[in-house]
Amino acid sequence: MKKQVGIEALAIAVPRRYVDIEDLARARGVEPAKYTAGLGAKEMAVADPGEDSVALAASAVSRLIQRHGVDPSRVGMLVVGTETGVDHSKPVASHVQGLLKLPRSMRTFDAQHACYGGTAGLMAATEWIASGAGAGRSAIVVCSDIARYGLNTAGEPTQGGGAVALLVSEQPDLLALDIGLNGVCSVDVYDFWRPLGRREAVVDGHYSISCYLDALSGAYRGWRERAMAHEVVRWGDSLPGEQLARILYHVPFCKMARKAHTQLRLCDLEDAPGAQDSTPAAREEAAKSSASYEAQVASSLGLNARIGNVYTASLYLALAGLLHDEGAALAGKRIGLLSYGSGCCAEFYSGVVGEGAARRMAQSDVESVLAKRERVSIEEYERIMRLASDAPEPLTPAPGEFRLTEIREHRRIYAAG
Ligand code: CAA
Repeated sequence: MKKQVGIEALAIAVPRRYVDIEDLARARGVEPAKYTAGLGAKEMAVADPGEDSVALAASAVSRLIQRHGVDPSRVGMLVVGTETGVDHSKPVASHVQGLLKLPRSMRTFDAQHACYGGTAGLMAATEWIASGAGAGRSAIVVCSDIARYGLNTAGEPTQGGGAVALLVSEQPDLLALDIGLNGVCSVDVYDFWRPLGRREAVVDGHYSISCYLDALSGAYRGWRERAMAHEVVRWGDSLPGEQLARILYHVPFCKMARKAHTQLRLCDLEDAPGAQDSTPAAREEAAKSSASYEAQVASSLGLNARIGNVYTASLYLALAGLLHDEGAALAGKRIGLLSYGSGCCAEFYSGVVGEGAARRMAQSDVESVLAKRERVSIEEYERIMRLASDAPEPLTPAPGEFRLTEIREHRRIYAAG
């Protein structure tokens, strides 16, 4: 039998504070419906300088190990996907290894390609295990980021922050990946980037949406071609994309998942045998199907709407949200996942939800992580946003969590709660 490899368990970490998105809209003189209905947001995580990508990643890994009884001596690889790393050379992964006192006998590195870095890490880990190179060991892949565009920018309501840690192994209780079916598409574009030395991203917002949709089309068509060759999906009474129980997308803001789903359906409708019998307008209308969006996508967006963009982690927050709510009902069913990183690279892959998904998600208890957060005013959010990145507030980390406390002679010092 072919070896099963995929995600065994996950854990999340989020900043301790958040703002209500309607408060932000009112403070900016914007009709709240633009942020709620137009972008699909409810709340937005606010990270202070003590909650950098290292602290969030270490907190998520700590929770993964504690909640799921991970034996660190069985872990042979630790990869951090991030586009908000803290040093040009020393990886976030080495900080995490040190803070968690993980064994020396593991590969540690960061993977960077905007929001795609976490998926790059997941695929490296999966293929390392599937190839046999891991010799039965597991990998931890952490997606950790702080999305920051700055005060009074168009991107402001799409900020956020957090981390998702994934345990990857030959016991994929959450999701067994369909290795070998992945479709990818990369193009050299300037849609979203962050020049060295800048804290805030530079973004060509509307162009970035079209780059995402274009790359999605290439990646999805690549996956579909291979999935058809392996008879995983087929042309028939339903479209190939409709044969996936759910489809998760990279979620820079929740409304993007709806746009992405429309684009994926359009790929199927345009390529279907007999497509020429319908007009382009009719196909575009059919692609927008609300019923399809509600059935296949909407239920995955609960955590994203409450946290905001978490760059590399946003696809995996959607996975956490979906399996938290529907893990039991989806056991044995195949889902699709679309990762997008600006610059750009998209990857579409699929996997089968494991029988242990509901149990694993109950152990992860993502709800309690969010329940501990504190809602802050817009004045407090603006104060936090203005804090210097090298001057963290002297706050005590919660039990099991980590915070940056100071930077001394260019060395970052963290405290554990
Ligand atoms: N009621 C309801 N809806 C309203 C409304 C109201 N009163 N007013 C406006 N809207 C709707 C608009 O119709 C629009 O919806 P559609 O896109 O469906 O037409 C939506 O609200 C947003 O309105 P605008 O397009 O006018 O908003 P904007 O120009 O101010 O900014 C944005 C939107 C470009 C997404 C901006 O938030 C941004 O730049 N975000 C960061 C970039 C980003 O997230 N890009 C995504 C692709 S790149 C990527 O995915 C990588 C990554 O993580 C960054």
